[in-house]
This record gives sequence, C-alpha cells and structure tokens, in this order.
Amino acid sequence: MSDSTPRHEVAHLARTELYTPDPDGTLWFFTQLLGMYETHRAGQSVYLRAYEDPYQWSIKITEAPHAGLCRAGLRTTSPEALERRAKALKDDNVDVRWTEDEFGYGKTLQFQTPDGHHFSLLWEAEKYQAPPELQSKILTRPSKRPLRGLPVKRIDHINLMASDVTPVKESFERHLGFTTTERVVDGQVEIGAWMSSNILGHEVACMRDMLGERGRFHHVAMYYGIPQHNIDAAEMFREYDIEIETGPDKHGITQGSFLYVFEPGGNRIELFGDTGYLHLDPDAGTRTWQMSDIDTGLAIGGAKLPFETYFTYGTPSRLTLADHIAQFAGGPEPTPQAVTAAENIPDAIGSSEHASGVPAH
Ligand SMILES: [Fe+2]
Ligand SMILES: [Fe+2]
Repeated sequence: MSDSTPRHEVAHLARTELYTPDPDGTLWFFTQLLGMYETHRAGQSVYLRAYEDPYQWSIKITEAPHAGLCRAGLRTTSPEALERRAKALKDDNVDVRWTEDEFGYGKTLQFQTPDGHHFSLLWEAEKYQAPPELQSKILTRPSKRPLRGLPVKRIDHINLMASDVTPVKESFERHLGFTTTERVVDGQVEIGAWMSSNILGHEVACMRDMLGERGRFHHVAMYYGIPQHNIDAAEMFREYDIEIETGPDKHGITQGSFLYVFEPGGNRIELFGDTGYLHLDPDAGTRTWQMSDIDTGLAIGGAKLPFETYFTYGTPSRLTLADHIAQFAGGPEPTPQAVTAAENIPDAIGSSEHASGVPAH
C-alpha cells in the first residue's frame, strides 16, 4: 500500500479517556446503567470495558475539575500502518510524541488535531482475557453480557466540536487515511464531517462549535446495535434521573439510531442503536447535505436537537450544564454569549423543525 492510498490504515476507535468532576457519579453511570466492567484503577483514574470490547479498556474516567475529553485512541491495522501514519503526521510538521506507559496498551503515538483535540494512534493492545466466571459461551464475545443495567456492547465512535471543521477533516483524511462519508455545508462552510477508515459511517465526526471555541468534545457513542435498546435505555435514564438531551430517533446523516444523554459529570454520551449505513462501496465518494435538507439529516423521526445544548454545549464548558441551559434557552433577555451563538448558527438550523429552544434573533 502506498502513502497515496492509505485507506484502512486505522482499524477503529479503541478507547476514549474522559475527565469528570463527579467521578463517583460517572463511574455509577458507566458501570450500573451501561453495564460496563471495571478492569483497573490507578491514581484518580478508573478503566472500563463493555462486554464486547476486545481490549483491557475502552473508557477511562479521570477525576478533574472540569468534564471533557482527555484523549481518544485509534488502533491501526498493523504495526507498519502505525509507522506509516506517524511518518505522514511528522512529514506534515504535526508534533508527535511516543509514549508507552498506559495500562493494557503498548507503544502509542500522541498528537493533536488542528483544533487541539488530543488523540493517540496505537497498534499494541492487550486482549482482554475473561476469568472463568466471566467467560462467554459465544466465541466472538470476550466476556459474558453482565446482569446489570442495560449493557452496551462496545465503544463505537467519537464526535468532536471544532472552531473550524475543514482542517480537522483534512488531517484525518491526509494523515490517517480516513474517508469523509458525509458532510454538511452552510454555503461554502463545512459545519459537519463524518469520517471513516472502515465500512462504518464514522469512527470520528467533527461539528462546528457554534461558540467558536477550540478543541472541545461533543460526545462518545456506545453501541447497542438494537434500536429498541435506545427506547429501553431512555426509560432507564428517566427512572434514574439521567438527563436526556434528545432521542430516541434516527439521524438521516449516517442513518444511525441515536439517544443522547449527559452522564453525571457533564459529558454527553450517545447510545447508538444500530450501525447506520455501511459503506461497502469503496468509491462511493462523499455525500454532501445542504442546509435545506438539514431536518432530514438531523432526525428523520422529528426529534428536536436543542439549540441550548446540542449546538452550543461541549466539554469542557465554561458553565455547568444547568447554567448553560439557563443561559442559552433564550428567554426575555438572552446573554451576549447566547446572542453571538444564535448569530453563528446557520439560519436553516435556527429555523429547523428539529432544533428547539432557539433564541429569537
Ligand atoms: Fe454520534
Ligand atoms: Fe448521533
């Protein structure tokens, strides 16, 4: 494979590290509601895996003053692919750093996206070996489905907010061999891109931060694979006072079945009810959504994606989630920050049937 055709050099999203100001609440959310197993603790961090995650951990939560993304890790398809991607990053003057001190993983390349999101690339990953009592009878399943909460199967994808989507998209394409499967444009400006290195619609997505901030985190998605589970999960979250942002519904973009909630630490988590559209056609190209079609793109079934959170709230956030909602929900006198955000939001989203709570402007 030459560097000019680097597709399939990255296998998948292996892990995501989150900061939380409420470590007990965040741990309860992932273990008791999403049924994830705890596999390790070190310092202020707890390592978690879902029952079909193949490695020692897919989510790491670390106590910190603010919620947010610490770092996301992508596994390459071979050690050679890792070296080629490292060279592609270095040849384009991206600062990279090799490390080798993380539980369950080996040599790891650290770098940042053009917007400042922290990422890792790695090949060496220790496979999870279940103890006898957790071994599954299903050979492709690394551990039993736990009898706890409504267990997610595995990590699925990550979604970033960026001050400028295009450089982030181009870096994933040029340096890592991702294909942009779908994007949204507002005139000439890209406001969203969904990028994949395999047949899934996306491992990484990037959306414009309507507040203009750099390097923020929108969500990580955990996979159920069955859309009904999103409805069951919504009932569970309602019963246990987890704030539901929107859903269950189905996006037009990616065709993924979604449910968005906020874990107790303030990070947005998506429950992914199915794989969405699979990209088996190797030269299908990029599908471009115009703002005139944004309602279909956001939610086929008509769910509202709230302006006061979905398009403006990312982590870290200057405000708590409750204060952010209060500021951006509009009302008689929206704050200057809310007015600026409302001006930045494309008119078609502002008037969308599928965005709610948009301040008058
Ligand atoms: Fe997502
Ligand atoms: Fe989604």
